[in-house]
Amino acid sequence: MNVVILAAGQGKRMHSDLPKVLHPLAGRPLLAHVIATARSLDPGVICIVYGHGGEAVREAMAQPDLIWAKQEPQLGTGHALAQALPHLNSKSPTLVLYGDVPLTRAQTLRDLCRAAGKGLALLTVELADPHGYGRIVRSRGSIKRIVEEKDASPAERALREINTGIMVLPTARLKAWLAGLKNKNAQKEYYLTDVVAAAVKDKLPVHSAHPAAAWETLGVNSKAQLAELERVFQAQTAAALMQQGVTLADPARIDVRGSLACARDVAIDVNCVFEGEVVLGAGVSVGANCVLRDVKVAAGTRIEPFCHLQQADIGARCRIGPYARLRPGTELAEEVHIGNFVEVKASQIAARSKANHLAYVGDTTVGRDVNIGAGTITCNYDGVNKHRTIIEDGAFIGSDTQLVAPVRVGRGATLGAGTTLTRDAPADALTVSRAKQVTISTWKRPVKQKKETK
Ligand code: UD1
Ligand code: CA
Repeated sequence: MNVVILAAGQGKRMHSDLPKVLHPLAGRPLLAHVIATARSLDPGVICIVYGHGGEAVREAMAQPDLIWAKQEPQLGTGHALAQALPHLNSKSPTLVLYGDVPLTRAQTLRDLCRAAGKGLALLTVELADPHGYGRIVRSRGSIKRIVEEKDASPAERALREINTGIMVLPTARLKAWLAGLKNKNAQKEYYLTDVVAAAVKDKLPVHSAHPAAAWETLGVNSKAQLAELERVFQAQTAAALMQQGVTLADPARIDVRGSLACARDVAIDVNCVFEGEVVLGAGVSVGANCVLRDVKVAAGTRIEPFCHLQQADIGARCRIGPYARLRPGTELAEEVHIGNFVEVKASQIAARSKANHLAYVGDTTVGRDVNIGAGTITCNYDGVNKHRTIIEDGAFIGSDTQLVAPVRVGRGATLGAGTTLTRDAPADALTVSRAKQVTISTWKRPVKQKKETK
């Protein structure tokens, strides 16, 4: 099979500099959804007809198996398909998809291909309000032609079965049909829809198939429609997660922009966003208002509310947050506790170590059973280069300590609160850098001076 994706339209109603088909739905461009669906059908050829903002589209989607056909100027859907024709295998049928119709299911398209046989098949739906669409004109049940809204008579406009635009065509016949298209219509365009009447004239059967859900054929022309389809997509994703056994506090308040793999008994509270590839182990719970991007969480870990986690690998039975930030390169072993207002970056933290309050741990290797006190900061950046800090097993870092990297804290060492560590701290000893505390008993508080009045 050949797949042609029509994507040359301008998308003026998006009011955006970004080409319409690059606007993201669930974190991926609209066109990427259509390409993924096309690929799942395992076609011989995928050809994308591009035009407006085309080079940006090509660059964004550059993949070796895609063929690109430029349409300039854009003279209608029939003219668009004609640009793809030289790239198609004439021995197999051609499926036409739209780059701005992202949610059609592969099964619906397989049904459509089966319906086509050696002839044509149109994906159609009955709409309560068919306004704006091409209408399917039948006679004694069989499809005769498609008439566009702008060209339709009042009687034709009353028809409620519409052309979704998605169709399967016999490729060998397309050359003659497309060459025969005329643009004598209300929009002065070469309508792909006119090939239906041409096929009927050539005595080819025209079949129809219907999607299981109407949203499968919805297109995006405006930001409002984009938001509507985003909700449809998220509702489907939430339903699939619950089907697998995931507990969602509210299926209307989760957003998955990528892939979310969950083991058994995962629970997700409201307003969480999952981006990229996220993997949650058995029994993991994610509190309200968390954002996880490219994160792996092992079994039994609890993420408390308001955490922002990115490119982190979190071990089993950890406790993260509330209000924790894990940045790229964070690796936590099991039973690590990262508490509120703690930021970790490019650091490995071994089992059972804790940083429970207000700390920055960057470019650091932390051993097991380490306690990092409140207000501890690794000074990993000298303004030019980043340096590493090493904290060995069992060390105790007193509150409000600065570790000026590169520096090493030995096994079992204790740093007194307020220490500014600029040299290595030996194992099993107390290291403290602190001005001696003094009390000045003769000191008097200043008294407010009276202003002289004139
Ligand atoms: C088209 C159909 C109409 C159908 C409707 C469904 C025709 C003549 N009409 O109408 O029957 O009900 O879709 O949404 O086909 N495109 C190009 N090049 C062009 C024109 C369009 O690539 O010169 C692409 C667009 O990017 C879009 C698709 O074709 O992906 C449909 O174009 P659009 O302008 O939305 O078609 P409609 O006039 O709405
Ligand atoms: Ca349209």
